[in-house]
Amino acid sequence: MIEIDVKTGSADKQRSDAVVLPLLDGRKLTESGKELQDATGKTISSFLRKFDISGAFGSMRTLYDVESTHTGRVILIGAGDEKKLTLQKLRALASKVAIRLDKSGARDVSIYFPELDVKDASMADKVQAIAEGIWLGVYKFDKYQTEKKDNKRELRSVTIMIPHRRDLDDAEAAVVVARAASLGTNFARDLANEPGNVCTPEFLGDQAAALKHKKLKVTVMDKKAIEKAGFTALLAVNQGSAKEPRFIVLEYNGGEKGDAPVALVGKGLTFDAGGISIKPGQAMDEMKFDMCGSAAVLGIFKAATELNLETNLLGVIPSTENLLGSEAYKPGDIITTYKGLTIEVLNTDAEGRIILSDALAYAAEKKPAEIIDFATLTGACVIALGAQATGLMGTSDEVKEGLKASGDHTHDRVWELPMYEEYQEQIKSKIADIRNIGGREAGTITAACFLSRFVDDIPWAHLDIAGTAWNMKGTDISPVGATGAGVRLVVDYLLNRD
Ligand code: BES
Ligand code: MN
Ligand code: ZN
Repeated sequence: MIEIDVKTGSADKQRSDAVVLPLLDGRKLTESGKELQDATGKTISSFLRKFDISGAFGSMRTLYDVESTHTGRVILIGAGDEKKLTLQKLRALASKVAIRLDKSGARDVSIYFPELDVKDASMADKVQAIAEGIWLGVYKFDKYQTEKKDNKRELRSVTIMIPHRRDLDDAEAAVVVARAASLGTNFARDLANEPGNVCTPEFLGDQAAALKHKKLKVTVMDKKAIEKAGFTALLAVNQGSAKEPRFIVLEYNGGEKGDAPVALVGKGLTFDAGGISIKPGQAMDEMKFDMCGSAAVLGIFKAATELNLETNLLGVIPSTENLLGSEAYKPGDIITTYKGLTIEVLNTDAEGRIILSDALAYAAEKKPAEIIDFATLTGACVIALGAQATGLMGTSDEVKEGLKASGDHTHDRVWELPMYEEYQEQIKSKIADIRNIGGREAGTITAACFLSRFVDDIPWAHLDIAGTAWNMKGTDISPVGATGAGVRLVVDYLLNRD
């Protein structure tokens, strides 16, 4: 992991391999840039005059061996119009620079981004965003590429340069949060990027059990234990798979003894072929990502242990494949769930809500203060919101509002869909208590309506991450593959709760 620290000091004095300075629209330098320009006898300004660098967002130029400096490279990176800067743009900028530097041979670098003015953002906010951009941006999942391009001079350390000593403590604390949130996010990405033949329910259980912390207890139930506990809905979906299911429970006791925990529930479908209601072949490989909800939960626990978070947490992950073996559950089957409610299965591809029914009921039984669930639940959510926002639904305005605020702050964004009473009609069954599909209309909402039947009166929010959990184009802060959506969102939410 790249080392990140915070310092003050002028650009001409830095002995790092590279000094990175932002350049605003109209080739405008920031304070440190101007200082460097003065110190270097106008080398920078004559460079700016001669070359076609504009300050356009993301553009980059490297100057080597600038006189009167102690660094090998001065890198100018376009930050665009300062009035339009946001924390997310800082993340994107930091990510871009880090990826470039990682390939450049510069090992220890200093970057002067915090002096950029971002509306409504504190120095700590900016430093956190920059650190996240670096750690999230340089993430790679290349363990299966055996013909490696060996990089012996990869980026080793970044010093984030801030203008005033008085902000050092806040800035250092911000790096600690960024580090935990990024470790959690990248852990979630690692789990989700693993192929389905490696990331099985057993593997997920092993990964959860490997999270070690003095305040964390992890219980992994195998098939026998699941049968004994009575998680019948999970077992029904598992029938078509030759691999055993797992039911994972994590208890993190960072808060006061006896304080009701925040329950985090994640869909851990390690491969979703659709079952007997089989999916079309197109992009079916991406259904290895159908465990991204569970990866988000594990990522948040990872971050909580890194931060020594002072909140009690309960994690619940039901995990199985959804395949078509000869014992597979079938359309028309009726399942009696752990809670006792019966489900008429009309489409075996709506399996996420089925396994979550047992996990939510189990979580609700523990009387948590609130439940937040994470699931790649509906294709309809991808159609409604695309890759830009996670679908948010639920019963608790307080939890939903907190998640919206954290979504905006982290740019791990959510958008609420309504859960009007009338939608519940769509999942009425003529033969059982409820059916597992609600028709073509409002598919994301009717899936949430289904889940709502299993949370009792516990304040609850549901995050449909189907469109945000992975991205086959890559994003500003994520390469192609799993994004870790939901981790930074809920880490921020937990830190700001109460
Ligand atoms: N895992 C899928 C949802 C999904 C599909 C997520 C595509 C991301 C991209 C889920 O299990 C599923 O198959 N849902 C069905 C429900 C339908 C049968 C009511 C869907 O969305 O098509
Ligand atoms: Mn499915
Ligand atoms: Zn699924």
